[in-house]
Amino acid sequence: MIFRSLRLCLVFLLSSFTFLALVQAQATSSAAQNAAGTTAAPAYKSTSLLVDQRVQDLLKRMTLEEKATMLSGSGWMESAPIVRLGIPAIKMADGPMGVRSWAGSSAITNASSNPVRVETTSFPSGVAMAATWDTALVQREGQAIAQEVKALGRDMILGPTVNINRVPLWGRNFEGYGEDPYLSGQLGVAYIRGVQGEGVIPSVKHFAANNEEFERHRLDETIDERTLHEIYLPAFKAAVQQADVWTVMSAYEKVNGTYCAENPYLLTDILKKEFGFKGFVVSDWGSTYSTAPTVNAGMDLEMPGGPPAKVMLARPQTIMSGNSGLWLEANKVLADVKAGKITEATIDDNVGRILRVIMLSGIMDSPRTALGEVDTPEQQKVARDGATEGIVLLKNQNNLLPLDPSKIHSIAVIGPNALVARTGGGGSSLVRPKYAVSPLQGIQKRAGSGIQITPALGVGMDGEDPAHDTPEARANDLKAAADAAAKADVAIVVVGRYNKNESEGFDVKTMDLPAGQDELIAAVEKANPRTVVVLNTGDPVTMTKWLDTTPALLDMWYGGQEGGNALAAILFGDANPSGKLPVSLPKKFEDSPAAKNYPGQDLKVHYAEGIYVGYRYYDTKNVEPQFPFGFGLSYTTFEYSDLSVIPFVTHSGTVKSEGTLVTVKVKNSGSRAGAEVVQLYVHDDHAKIDRPAHELKAFKRVELKPGESQTIKFSLDKSAYEYWSPDTKQWTLAPGTFEIQVGASSRDIRLKAPLQVMR
Ligand code: BGC
Repeated sequence: MIFRSLRLCLVFLLSSFTFLALVQAQATSSAAQNAAGTTAAPAYKSTSLLVDQRVQDLLKRMTLEEKATMLSGSGWMESAPIVRLGIPAIKMADGPMGVRSWAGSSAITNASSNPVRVETTSFPSGVAMAATWDTALVQREGQAIAQEVKALGRDMILGPTVNINRVPLWGRNFEGYGEDPYLSGQLGVAYIRGVQGEGVIPSVKHFAANNEEFERHRLDETIDERTLHEIYLPAFKAAVQQADVWTVMSAYEKVNGTYCAENPYLLTDILKKEFGFKGFVVSDWGSTYSTAPTVNAGMDLEMPGGPPAKVMLARPQTIMSGNSGLWLEANKVLADVKAGKITEATIDDNVGRILRVIMLSGIMDSPRTALGEVDTPEQQKVARDGATEGIVLLKNQNNLLPLDPSKIHSIAVIGPNALVARTGGGGSSLVRPKYAVSPLQGIQKRAGSGIQITPALGVGMDGEDPAHDTPEARANDLKAAADAAAKADVAIVVVGRYNKNESEGFDVKTMDLPAGQDELIAAVEKANPRTVVVLNTGDPVTMTKWLDTTPALLDMWYGGQEGGNALAAILFGDANPSGKLPVSLPKKFEDSPAAKNYPGQDLKVHYAEGIYVGYRYYDTKNVEPQFPFGFGLSYTTFEYSDLSVIPFVTHSGTVKSEGTLVTVKVKNSGSRAGAEVVQLYVHDDHAKIDRPAHELKAFKRVELKPGESQTIKFSLDKSAYEYWSPDTKQWTLAPGTFEIQVGASSRDIRLKAPLQVMR
């Protein structure tokens, strides 16, 4: 085995030498041509040179003015081109759940009068994709989105969002991948690989710790270094070190007193030096507050820029909310260079990073013309697979689900989210699809003509339609829903929020469902005991008012344009639910770890709960959540056995690597094909420092036919056992006995084994 890999190494080294020699030869011959006075293309245009050589050559040819121009955007979603040298503008689009119109801020593009209508595939929200725990599928999603980016002639997609769900009320929880840094990191990496594999530029956001919308342009977050390293930074670190991400978007807030856009600790010390990030940092839209401090801190590209930024910054709403920008315009940067506050070497680094990405993505050499199609059957399938795999079955008493079409003659489909497709939360991520399937449409289509479907609103979505907001209208809607439920074999109630009350820009006011929805569930359950409740929202909701009497419960999150079809597939058993919660669902907001430290006071918020976020808190402090992290039922059952934990050492040349091989057998012990997400947690109670009850360190989604077994393999390296030490400011391993835990949720550990780990 070792011999084999040594031989491979040799082949690789030899081929690298040959390649370098070739590059050298090419460089020499082009120099010779120049000396001979021929009109050879400049070296930076030569695709046979290494990217870094091309960048250095190009930088040498640029004037200081040209370089300074590149630090600020030229438009709302375009960086500044340098036409003289053939440097193209990078054309961007939001992100992350599909491609959005780039015509202006979301206030403009989400309005029905949007000047540039862009209709693309609306993929499930980030939290729904996270519930799939399916990295291959998330990578397919990234690839599909990148293909749509190219089809529209754009170059860059502003996603993925990997910020952690710290509080259940964050308005953008639906965009992120949940509460666990490892899960978020792995899904972020998958998305980025999908995007970059197509030559499209992703932007992992928002660096760092964008965890509430409340006063996001003024809020100062106090976060200790250990918490930053263990909870809020790992997903970005994975994006840099595992996916070699091309760009990172900074966040709006201040971290420990300094705006993220001008934070040298975050941008330079951590991102560029500690993580080794080689791409460029782009500011979030309107988040810069200074010139020299921002450039010197490691900000490479300020967005937006040019006339659209001027218009945005002059708007009273912008001023009120605290946005700021246009600090990196060329004249300001040049003035600070002249004043000795910024060096040209710093600008070279900033611009070099932007040029590097322009070269890596290929847009330097072949400017993108709209190529390919949008919303193809393949892209729709990815959206549908994501929506289906992401649905989590939370309760299923007496196997009410799946519905058997041969026994059911009528279904009442009820609720403010049943009749309308609520594809995503609000703000800059809301995609405008060509079509979107509501739960009612999905159920109707799947049920066919043999089953009578009766729709009923039940209650208007709070604040959406004044006609349904009067006491009389409410009473009528409720009665009509209860009557429909009473007459049907089964009632399906779809409740939740929508893009006007769950959105970027503000936090959700309460964990409770919007007005009247708890009452609706209670009334429907009373009228028909065979009631299925479906949650269609990104943030957790309080369920205590009805859950005890609810026989079946599904969480479909915001499922994108295919959400209704996906729900129908799960309800009728065409697909077996395999989604697992990427976030703990607390019983009530007060139970959640950061409840006492949210939203903060006097524009300051202290992350006093530290590393105890999500299950790290619930499982360590013994607070029982309504549903735990990693939980999700299936129409089949799985058995775990044969856990084996073997430490290993490998040598490759002089490099010695140590790790742990964990294997476990999982069997589908039921009668339906299904998928299980096997989760591996590490428990450490011997370190001198406080550690959570356990932490997720590996997972795998596996599809099994009835009766089929598979042995799952996990390989853990030393990072699986480490904590970040505030004393030494380093990742640290406390030698001793750890416990490897394998299970189906953070609170359903099926097998455990001790493991001695030496230094
Ligand atoms: C959001 C970013 C988004 C940008 C551009 C900002 O308000 O925070 O996530 O990419 O706008 O639309």
